[in-house]
Amino acid sequence: MQKINLKSRPRRLRKNEVIRNLVQETILSPSQFIAPVFIHEGKEPEIKINSMPGICQFSLDRALKHIDELTKNKIKSIILFGIPGLKDKEAVSAWDEKSIIQRANKKIKENFPDVLLINDTCLCEYMEHGHCGIILGNEVLNDPTLEILERTAISQAASGADIIAPSGMMDGMVAAIRNALDQNNFQDVAIMSYAVKYASAFYGPFREAAESAPQFGDRKSYQMNPANKREALREALIDEQEGADIIMVKPAMPYLDIISLVKEKTNLPVAAYNVSGEYAMIKAAAQNGWIDEDKIILEMLTGIKRAGADIIISYFAKDVNRILKRV
Ligand code: PBG
Repeated sequence: MQKINLKSRPRRLRKNEVIRNLVQETILSPSQFIAPVFIHEGKEPEIKINSMPGICQFSLDRALKHIDELTKNKIKSIILFGIPGLKDKEAVSAWDEKSIIQRANKKIKENFPDVLLINDTCLCEYMEHGHCGIILGNEVLNDPTLEILERTAISQAASGADIIAPSGMMDGMVAAIRNALDQNNFQDVAIMSYAVKYASAFYGPFREAAESAPQFGDRKSYQMNPANKREALREALIDEQEGADIIMVKPAMPYLDIISLVKEKTNLPVAAYNVSGEYAMIKAAAQNGWIDEDKIILEMLTGIKRAGADIIISYFAKDVNRILKRV
C-alpha cells in the first residue's frame, strides 16, 4: 500500500465509541425536556388519542399517577392542557378558579412541590368555536382577547403555575400578561412565550387531543406564515422587549433554521415545540416497521438541540431517559 499524506483525517476522532463520545458536541438530558399533559374534566381515567399512540387525556387523579411516572423518568417539567366540560364564547373555563386547570394546578403542587408547572395560556380549548380569541363575525379580535388572557394568567398563577405560556399569537399578549401578573404580586411567575408560532398542519393530532379544532376558517390571521423567516425574528424580539423570559419556536422539525436564527439573535433561552404531527409521523412509521423508532427519536431530538434549542417540549419526553440509557 502506498503511503498517502493527508493533512486532515477526521476519521481519527470517530475510531471508537469512547473517542466519539469525547468529541460529541450536542448532548441531550431529560432535565431540558418539558412533557405535555392533557387533563380532561371527566371521570374516565384515560381516553386514548387515536392519532397519537401512547398519549392520552387523563382524569385529574390519573394525571397525578402519570406525573409520578414522568418524574421517575427524570422529567420534572410539565405543560398542562385542559379539556373543559364547558365551552362557551367567553372562555369562562379558562379562568374560572374551579375549572380543570386551576384544580389540577393545586393538586399537582400539593403532590409534587418540586415539579415545574407550566400552563398553556390560550383560549381555543375553552371556546365553543375553537379559535384562540374573542370572535366578531369571522374575525378574531386582538385587544378584547388580551383581557381574557390576563384574567386566565392571573388565575393560573394564583392556583400554582410557575410559568405562563401564552400560545394564542395575539399582539401584545406578553406585555399584557406581564403587567397583569406584576400588578397581582406574581412578579416571580415567568412567561414562556409561543413567540414564533406558525400556522402549521403539524398541529392536526393535537386538535384531536385537546378538542380544539377551529369550527370555521383557520388560524392564519394570527399564526405565522410558514414561508416567513425575518418575521420570526420580529416576533421574537417584540416578545423579548415585552418581558418574555423564554422564547419558543413551534413546530420544531421543519423549522430548524428558525430555531437557529432566533438562538443567534436573542439572549433568552430558546424552547422548541416538537409538536403532535411530528410525534404522529414517527409513531405511524414505527408501527409499520419502516423505521427504528428509538434511533429516529434520538436523532430528531438531537437535531433540534443542535439547531439551538435549550429546551424541548415533546411528547417523547417520557421516552428520553430510557432511550439515552440504551444507547
Ligand atoms: C393552543 C395550542 C396548540 C398547540 C399548542 N397550544 C394548537 C393550535 O395552535 O392549534 C399545538 C401543539 C401540538 O400540535 O402538539 N393554541
